[in-house]
Amino acid sequence: MHSLSDIVKLYEERFDTHPLLIRACGRINIIGEHTDYNNGFVLPAAVDKYLYFAIGENGTADSLLYAADIKDSHRFNINEIVPCEKLWANYLMGIMKQLQERGVPLEGVDCVFGGNLPIGSGMSSSAALECGFALGLDTLFRLEIGRVELARLAQRSSHQFVGIPCGIMDQFTSLLGRAGQAIKLDCRSLEYEYIPLELGDCELVLINTKVHHELASSEYPVRVEECRKGVEAVQKHHPEVESLRDITLEMLDAHRDELPAVIYRRCAYVIKENARLEEAAACLAEGEMERLGELLLLTHEGLRDEYEVSSPELDFLVAMARETEGVLGARLMGGGFGGCTINLVRKEAKEKFLKEVTKAYFKQFGIHSEYYFVHPVDGTTVVREE
Ligand code: GLA
Repeated sequence: MHSLSDIVKLYEERFDTHPLLIRACGRINIIGEHTDYNNGFVLPAAVDKYLYFAIGENGTADSLLYAADIKDSHRFNINEIVPCEKLWANYLMGIMKQLQERGVPLEGVDCVFGGNLPIGSGMSSSAALECGFALGLDTLFRLEIGRVELARLAQRSSHQFVGIPCGIMDQFTSLLGRAGQAIKLDCRSLEYEYIPLELGDCELVLINTKVHHELASSEYPVRVEECRKGVEAVQKHHPEVESLRDITLEMLDAHRDELPAVIYRRCAYVIKENARLEEAAACLAEGEMERLGELLLLTHEGLRDEYEVSSPELDFLVAMARETEGVLGARLMGGGFGGCTINLVRKEAKEKFLKEVTKAYFKQFGIHSEYYFVHPVDGTTVVREE
């Protein structure tokens, strides 16, 4: 855990220059999970859990990165950027490589980063890494690429350099989040609108299972591929279809016999999740918190039974939330197989729920969970120019 001033201090202990400072955000997602890479909709918000970056150019062809939270460093030559065994370093190097591929002339940088954004918890610390560094380089070298384009570039880096076929939700949210608002994003057109995240007498609380199963990274590409297979089967009858976004449940049902059961389940989940998102956005606009809570619970069921990306720890937390008076809904958030649940809780019920759930979770799994209150904030920003 590091504050902005810790990061500045660590930078100044190592380097002589006056660094540029960037604050990169994590994100929550209210609803719309595993819909982004299917060209569907998502409803995320940038939140006040941060990674801080201190960055300065050093006039050489070498770059030195220091990850303060894990006390690890990585040096590389900017003319020979190749993936290494450190995942965190790949997220950063991939951004430089993408910029070089646009023909942008760069020089080496020194960079220290760290913060209070939990790593591997479904709050997208990886997008914060990518977007913080991308905005840093954009500012340092006066590239003026623009935020939507930077989000695309960061997603491309995840695909091509890190090897994760992710959607665009995380990078888009980290860069385009706005204080007090959720973003309703159409992941096909990248059209978006802000919806005030006003929850009346309720609050959003994240509960971190503190478990991150290996499956999270290995199963993700499998799900992407399963969805692709579903689309391919329906395309035989409807050549105009490009993604699950274009397929209704009726269309899918009409060809159910031709699909392996598992592919049917995956596709049915995504189609229903897009419909739930539309309803949830309306609930948010109209302050219908109880229905919003029900929708979160339905999403969790879908992620557990149809999309099969849950885990015993996540299911336990959601089951307890479901049984607790004053908790309107809960679901796993992000890619799945661990990380956080997102809970919609009445303010008056919050304290008792968190106390009980923490205790019961420890009794069941022997793990100390953590919880976070999060608030929607402006996306990744320059805190101070060099
Ligand atoms: C990860 C990916 C996102 C999205 C979610 C699931 O966070 O990076 O693109 O697919 O999983 O909704």
